[in-house]
Amino acid sequence: MSKTQSLSFARVPHPSPTPADKRAELLKNPGFGRVFSDHMVTIRYSDSRGWHDARIEPRAPISMDPAAAVLHYAQEIFEGLKAYRTADGGATLFRPEENARRFQRSAERLAMPVLPEKAFLDACDLLVSTDRAWIPDGDGSLYLRPFMFATEVFLGVKPSSDYLFMVIASSVGAYFKTDAPAVSVWVSTDYTRAAPGGTGVAKCGGNYAASLLAQAEATRHGCDQVVFLDAKEQRWVEELGGMNVFFIFDDGSLSTPPLGGTILPGITRSSLITLAKDKGLEIREERYSIDQWRSDAGTGRLREAFACGTAAVVTPIGTVRSKDGEFRIGNGGSGAKTEELKATLVGIQRGRTPDPYGWIHKVF
Ligand code: PLP
Ligand code: COI
Repeated sequence: MSKTQSLSFARVPHPSPTPADKRAELLKNPGFGRVFSDHMVTIRYSDSRGWHDARIEPRAPISMDPAAAVLHYAQEIFEGLKAYRTADGGATLFRPEENARRFQRSAERLAMPVLPEKAFLDACDLLVSTDRAWIPDGDGSLYLRPFMFATEVFLGVKPSSDYLFMVIASSVGAYFKTDAPAVSVWVSTDYTRAAPGGTGVAKCGGNYAASLLAQAEATRHGCDQVVFLDAKEQRWVEELGGMNVFFIFDDGSLSTPPLGGTILPGITRSSLITLAKDKGLEIREERYSIDQWRSDAGTGRLREAFACGTAAVVTPIGTVRSKDGEFRIGNGGSGAKTEELKATLVGIQRGRTPDPYGWIHKVF
């Protein structure tokens, strides 16, 4: 298949889809990532045939040879994006082209084949339209998880010759379980997430495997998420385990750590930078040290901080804990600017306010 040629998807409908009453029960309080829709999309790749065998079929376990390369060398990448139900009964995605492009960049970094943008978008659209009944009402959404992994049966260390690309969908509510107005974060000083020249910029499973021990440490200290510092100096705030971070100051300006190869270039992050600029706010992409964070929280120069990402949306950070003790930001809850930015973003994402940016992709 060439870059512009489109794949046609074979359609294998589910013989016994989840009954409506059972689905309604599951959608009442789905949490995050535990409730799955009825179908999945798969596309295969081999060096000899290119992209082929695209299909949508009933969601089911997949079988793999125990020597499949991904099980040994973790050649795997993924994406995360949400489908929203609109007031007119339709469904939309938020900037899915950006996910498709980041997926391509992740593939390049992991020495994997590059899936054409159109195939990525068609796969997402097809799954959303097929499983539209799984998009929750209200504040929920249908979280799409496109991913790709190496399937060649070979134990030598080299890029695989075969891959499987898949999209699954999960009906979700809020990512964080807490009812608190803000989350708490643990600053990891024993572990780092990404080093210069490494894979921090890519969305590959290995980055998350490497973050789990630090996340477990955060949980042990009563925190919702882990904050990683840079690997070189252990000084500069980079990002959280699964989200980017923003700071809001007493002069009304904002800052967020700059992308430099070790931070995931979040689509929510880039959207919020645009929204902040268009609101006339000063926004800097600049390094911010953990010592400065502590000191600014103490003096009141720092008024608010928040985490952001597809799963987290915009989540205020109230408490920061580390081996050196704990500090609070503002009153430890949310702040007015965080709430304003969140409302603008969510309003556009859910089609409640006009989208002057062309960010909304209509599925149907
Ligand atoms: N940083 C990390 C490590 C993430 O896993 C995510 C989530 O995808 C983000 C940042 C935010 O990215 P996005 O806004 O594109 O979801
Ligand atoms: C997302 O926000 O899409 C992610 O991949 C982050 C993860 C914490 C669920």
